[in-house]
Amino acid sequence: MPDQPLIVESVPGHRSLCAFHADTLHDNVQPAAPPCSFIQLPARCGTTTQRMNERDWDNVADVFEEEIFNVPANDTKGIITKWVKKLSGPDVVATDLGCGVGRTLPLLADRYAKVYAVDVSSQCLEVAEKTCPQYTNIRYVHADLSKDRNSYPATDVVLCINTLLNAAIEVREPLIERTVRSVKRGGHLLLVVPSLNSALLTAYRHLQWNLKDGMDPKEAQRKAALNSNGLEHGTVYIDDVPTKHYLKEELEALLDARGFNVLAVEKLEYPWTTEFDAPPKWMKAPFPWDWFVAAQRR
Ligand SMILES: C[S@@+](CC[C@H](N)C(=O)[O-])C[C@H]1O[C@@H](n2cnc3c(N)ncnc32)[C@H](O)[C@@H]1O
Repeated sequence: MPDQPLIVESVPGHRSLCAFHADTLHDNVQPAAPPCSFIQLPARCGTTTQRMNERDWDNVADVFEEEIFNVPANDTKGIITKWVKKLSGPDVVATDLGCGVGRTLPLLADRYAKVYAVDVSSQCLEVAEKTCPQYTNIRYVHADLSKDRNSYPATDVVLCINTLLNAAIEVREPLIERTVRSVKRGGHLLLVVPSLNSALLTAYRHLQWNLKDGMDPKEAQRKAALNSNGLEHGTVYIDDVPTKHYLKEELEALLDARGFNVLAVEKLEYPWTTEFDAPPKWMKAPFPWDWFVAAQRR
């Protein structure tokens, strides 16, 4: 039997974006490592209930570095840093929306007058605060972006890395609305979100791999298929959690409709090891990616 591709599931350093682990896997994927037992397992996939809530993120706070893919550390071209620097200044105020355990707080706090570190998880905020004791210009704000009456002001620059992930439209729309309203008029939004195009490319690579291994074409295609429940609206399952993925054009339309001029859309590219366990040597560029967007509020 030829070796079949292993889709990476919950492996430290790999691209888990969600605070959950799969208790069951689709028949076309296998875990590269057994799911960790210290995180409460989610309900069955296929529902659109909100499963990225405060408690889930609290549960992952202590193991965030091992469990949650580190976008800034894998930004090998320095795209995020370039934009953070470009927009910085002694009087400029920034917000890290969905700051998690504070990976990007030093980047902001070193360059901006004041930084609001906002997250729904008090546990993540606690870890962030412990990691950044030297910064007196960071204010930690416990807030749920999907709800109103949050206690932080609109700022000049808002950095938002993989926070707008919720596949449930009734949660995601308010998340997006409050994200855009967190930016002052004339201010900038720096956004990172999963790419739908990239997820489809990964499925194609999976198919290619199956075919190269001599699998029957129909079987190869079936085994490489993504869960199609909600795919047309960008829902892709990561660790069995329905996760919103975006098209470039969708981001452009979404931001334009909310009063933003898109200044740049760039790919944050990652190696294939983020998608597959031990990808074959022939699997090179084009690589998988997240979208990075820089936009200015009109
Ligand atoms: C994938 S993590 C990314 C964290 C961080 N931006 C990073 O790059 O390391 C998503 C973060 O968004 C936060 N988050 C999710 N939903 C939120 C909401 N409704 N309001 C505020 N924060 C939220 C989570 O608690 C989590 O820390």
